[in-house]
Amino acid sequence: MTRIYLSPPHPSGRELELVADAIASNWLAPLGPHVDAFERELGALIDVPHVLALSSGTAALHLALTVLGVGPGDEVACSNLTFAASVNAIVYTGATPVLVDCDATWTIDPGLLDDALGDRRRRGAVVRAVVAVDLYGQCCDYRALREVCERHEVALVQDAAESLGATYEGEAAGRQGDLSALSFNGNKIVTTSGGGALASGHADLLAHARKLSTQAREPAPHYEHAEIGFNYRLSNVLAALGRAQLEVLADRVAARREINERYRSLLRGEPGVAFMPEAPYGTSNHWLTCVTIDPEAFGADREQVRLALEDEDIEARPVWKPMHLQPVFSELRCYGGEASATLFDRGLCLPSGSALTAADQQRIVDVLRSAATR
Ligand SMILES: Cc1ncc(COP(=O)(O)O)c(C=O)c1O
Repeated sequence: MTRIYLSPPHPSGRELELVADAIASNWLAPLGPHVDAFERELGALIDVPHVLALSSGTAALHLALTVLGVGPGDEVACSNLTFAASVNAIVYTGATPVLVDCDATWTIDPGLLDDALGDRRRRGAVVRAVVAVDLYGQCCDYRALREVCERHEVALVQDAAESLGATYEGEAAGRQGDLSALSFNGNKIVTTSGGGALASGHADLLAHARKLSTQAREPAPHYEHAEIGFNYRLSNVLAALGRAQLEVLADRVAARREINERYRSLLRGEPGVAFMPEAPYGTSNHWLTCVTIDPEAFGADREQVRLALEDEDIEARPVWKPMHLQPVFSELRCYGGEASATLFDRGLCLPSGSALTAADQQRIVDVLRSAATR
């Protein structure tokens, strides 16, 4: 039996054709017709007027904060339950991250964010932005977050690395922030093998990010620089690959939602097993299906289940270890923390690749069940 991976890439079949076209055209550079088309097509999919293709989602987050003017002496609030890239990008700017715990949706708690921003202000700190992270395909509650951010006059950056194809109040994920970062890393719902994008309704901010992403060249025949730039653009070859993937985004979302539904029906009534809830304000792309395991009720803890799956060559992962428990971020201020610590303790991400078969899912569930000793 072959190994079952957590979230492997899933080619559409058109990749070779488009990549071959990129090579034949000799646009072997971080610019070219496929980059332009990728930006247009992604913008149309998420209904955002300005899109910048980049080398990673992390680069997109870094540029978002940079064009908002975030720098040393500033603070940026960020979801505590996330992948380290969300917080790393804040540190790159020289600002100090402030961590905020999640609520029942597993995404940042708007009430706790409100408390945190009020508390930081009373202590004389300048919070310049909030990085709100969409988790495992589920959007944050942006109506509530927008209200809090406007009242405290801080910018809202959406980390939509995991939520392409999801919706919030009927609108595509990736258009809820002042700036929104997307990822096309190899494990994402669609991929460029490695890549990202920044999307925004603010033409001026996106134009500045575009300039910074190509070493901040000034318009001059020679190389003229008036500010510090980065080399963050996406290759034309990878944009070609990404275009083939964007064509099948809707199919990939449908497949991951079906996988989530099948896990739910196979595990219905299983003592101690609960699913990450889908918030009523949107539809998740169910990038990864996550469960929590109550060791007493189930008869094994999350790690015993993970190891039982690993013994059968099935890759499962603990839910993100929250940032306040990471050695590198242990000095950061964190508002709350217990909710995400419990999710880390009990949460497990199950294989969720869009090519996963029903037979594979049955096998995964059988092994998961067999770990229980009750
Ligand atoms: C929540 C989150 N933010 C940011 C990133 C960073 O994206 P990238 O790997 O494209 O740099 C990822 C995934 O890798 C992610 O899951």
